Amino acid sequence: MNYPNPNYSYHILTYGCQMNVRDSEIISGLLVQKGYFEQPDAEKADLVIFNTCSVRHSAENKVYSKLGEYTKLKKSNPDMIVAFGGCMAQLPDVIKKVKKLGVDIVFGTHNLHEIPRLIDEFRETNKKVVKVWQQHGEVIEDLPSHRKAGLSAFVNIMYGCNNFCSYCIVPYTRGRERSRHPRDIMAEVEQLAASGFKEVTFLGQNVNSFGKGLSDEYDFADLLMLADKAAGLDRIRFMTSHPKDMSDKLIDTIANGEKLCEHIHVPLQAGSNRVLQRMNRGYTREHYLELVGKMRDRIPGVAITSDLIVGFPGETEDDFEETLDMVEKVSFDAAFTFLYSIRSGTKAAGLDDQIDLAAKKNRLLRLNELQYSIAAELNRTLEGTIQEVLVEGPSKTDEGKLTARTRSNRIVIFSGPGDLIGKLINVKIIKGKTFSLFGETVQDTL
Ligand code: SAH
Ligand code: SF4
Ligand code: F3S
Repeated sequence: MNYPNPNYSYHILTYGCQMNVRDSEIISGLLVQKGYFEQPDAEKADLVIFNTCSVRHSAENKVYSKLGEYTKLKKSNPDMIVAFGGCMAQLPDVIKKVKKLGVDIVFGTHNLHEIPRLIDEFRETNKKVVKVWQQHGEVIEDLPSHRKAGLSAFVNIMYGCNNFCSYCIVPYTRGRERSRHPRDIMAEVEQLAASGFKEVTFLGQNVNSFGKGLSDEYDFADLLMLADKAAGLDRIRFMTSHPKDMSDKLIDTIANGEKLCEHIHVPLQAGSNRVLQRMNRGYTREHYLELVGKMRDRIPGVAITSDLIVGFPGETEDDFEETLDMVEKVSFDAAFTFLYSIRSGTKAAGLDDQIDLAAKKNRLLRLNELQYSIAAELNRTLEGTIQEVLVEGPSKTDEGKLTARTRSNRIVIFSGPGDLIGKLINVKIIKGKTFSLFGETVQDTL
């Protein structure tokens, strides 16, 4: 049903990973289809939607503190509706808590498509509506989606995860792994290219196991080969690759692809085999090093990035030093580093050798110090080189300058006219810092 008031407005607060960014685009599409409009100022919106993340305690805390602000706001504006969804909403304890905090509607990650109906139900009955599916249904294609105009778009290729890494909540919040049909993915990619997008990023918790369960024999490398031919696109990226499922075929495909960017995010998580085993990661440090060797040999200039966790239960100083050793041996181009966070309901939460916070923080500092110095050193080696970049827009940190990205996913800041935005150009790297490069345009733009 389309609600009669055409001026009804919504605002979505999105937390967490790219999956949630993509889900928010779908929620937005559903609401626009219903006749609502997006209100950029959250406090003025008639409907505020929290799309939440529960991957770490700190992610949940951010959500709770924001929710507190809206609970207050609702006192002065009782007509404001607060809806709560995303990964936190899949957890029964969270549902109990947020109902007490004044949330009107709760929906889960598996039933986004029901949001318009849940809103109507709340508005008709004025009673709290809680509808969270504990299990996923069939993959639903053709949901509307409201993407912000831009150069780069996220495309889900699969949902859920079957890996049950012992620290991780995602398999509980996103359900079992299921792949979209390549035909549907390619239709979306072609439509994006036709509407002006230059780059797509394929999303999945473990893209390397794409295709399992589909009736035709089809794997991730096959999908990449297909996408590489999509007319109109300049670049294709993907995340995340699980080391245990990375095939030689995939490495060769990236090496041979024209639009497939030379960047692989392949989280190591920890450097000690004992910890990796307790994390249920399914590979050893030796296997990981072998993979890195193959990627570097076959894909010239490849950037390898990672996620790393410190302070997993039972991690000794020696275990941690093995993580540092791996960081040195691999020489990651960049890494996201995290303090282990206890997630209730996961296997690791039940381990009795949890590490105290001070020790975890100390390890994180040491890890970051090492990783940052490696990133800075690698970036310095690019000084003087010419890099192909896609120009994204005005720099957020350097007023009057432009920001662009290399194929290896490095940010380059440089001066140039605004009409370069959206174009592939060559820049010469003048300076390499820890998190970005500084460059200047060269004559032979592409
Ligand atoms: N599917 C991806 C990662 C998804 S979650 C993969 O397997 O690589 C993103 C990152 O959050 C993980 O790679 C991990 O490093 C981190 N993470 C997940 N659970 C965590 C926890 N309980 N504590 C700290 N970091 C965690
Ligand atoms: Fe979590 Fe592991 Fe699945 Fe990644 S692969 S989402 S870390 S359980
Ligand atoms: Fe993503 Fe956070 Fe959920 S990382 S999958 S939004 S728990």
